[in-house]
Amino acid sequence: MSPDPKPLKIIQWATGAQGTESIRAILDTPQYELVGCKCYYTQKEGADAAQLAGRPPCGIKATTHFQTILDMDADCVAYMPRNTDLGEVCALLESGKNVVTTAFLFYPKALPAADLARLKAACEKGGTSIHGAGLNPGWISGILPLTMTGMTRKVEHIRLKERADWSFYESTHITFDNMCFGRPLEDVSEEANDFIRFNSGIFKEMIWMLGDKLNAGLDEVTAEVEVLPAPNDAKIFERELKAGTVGAQNWTWTGKRGGKSLIEIDTYWTLAGFYPSHWPNPDMGWTMTVEGDPSQKVHFLNLASFTRDVPFPEHVRAASVATAMHAVNAIPAVCAASPGIQTMADLPIVSSVIGFGNS
Ligand SMILES: NC(=O)c1ccc[n+]([C@@H]2O[C@H](COP(=O)([O-])OP(=O)(O)OC[C@H]3O[C@@H](n4cnc5c(N)ncnc54)[C@H](OP(=O)(O)O)[C@@H]3O)[C@@H](O)[C@H]2O)c1
Repeated sequence: MSPDPKPLKIIQWATGAQGTESIRAILDTPQYELVGCKCYYTQKEGADAAQLAGRPPCGIKATTHFQTILDMDADCVAYMPRNTDLGEVCALLESGKNVVTTAFLFYPKALPAADLARLKAACEKGGTSIHGAGLNPGWISGILPLTMTGMTRKVEHIRLKERADWSFYESTHITFDNMCFGRPLEDVSEEANDFIRFNSGIFKEMIWMLGDKLNAGLDEVTAEVEVLPAPNDAKIFERELKAGTVGAQNWTWTGKRGGKSLIEIDTYWTLAGFYPSHWPNPDMGWTMTVEGDPSQKVHFLNLASFTRDVPFPEHVRAASVATAMHAVNAIPAVCAASPGIQTMADLPIVSSVIGFGNS
């Protein structure tokens, strides 16, 4: 019998909603070893990484110091900050650390040519790979439709509808400060702030990625948004939502060829239970329709359990768990891949590393 391979050494980068789920997963996976933890908030400096994720201490201390992290020996960094920094990512790759991230890089060709060249050079220099993963953008808008088209002769149209109430998303900074819920209606546009521009960009990336892989010959991907006011005041975690401020956003990203829509991602995002009556009424979660020969439709839900009786917040957390797990489960494939940028269309099927956990 061959000895068990050594666990992969992993650094967790950022300890927000996704980062803490990632820490729990790394701690729970015998094939992984947590060796470092990067945080941003100075009050977390020196805190035990496991304790930041609600677990008993593991001895790995969080640090705000980039150089300390860069100097560490690790196989992979689980890079999950709010905003990405290409310089940091390139330095990590050059230092010999592979990177999985939930934050960007779903369709590398969307990057400016100079940034793409920089990333590729960093991978080459470090002999490393980088992979963008997650729930959506990620598995739902990438792997799911690609897999569905595997049973289709010819594709005519792809449409994803996402319906979600953001009241349950713990990262209220993202909901209110970045996505502009609770702000004047005119504050929401694709150019409203760096986050929305970036967020819109990553959904566009998913459309370009699908179009590229499926020979759609897209010539443009557009973004439109309809913004509607909240009808009532509401409390969302520690934040106040005031009536008349942004309470609902319908974003539509459309991949077109010659003006004709071929691929569409439509989000119906609301807060505090409000749902505009004139909007379509898809089921909560995601509905993916591939129109073609033959056509297929899947409704996807991600909950903490369909059988166990779990508290509601656990169901809510399931989206962060799934996002983090899609990156964390990709680590062995990313570490084994040849140097370079590995997209969801490049990597082999990513499945649970622990699986049933019986081996
Ligand atoms: N693909 C998907 O499906 C998907 C889904 C959800 C989120 N995401 C992405 O995943 C990333 C993490 O999301 P999240 O929900 O964990 O967000 P979050 O809860 O807001 O946490 C992000 C963390 O980023 C760190 N941070 C603070 N200030 C920062 C700054 N100026 N620049 C960069 N990072 C800063 C903080 O780390 P410390 O607390 O350690 O100091 C914070 O906790 C984001 O990029 C988000 O867009 C992707």
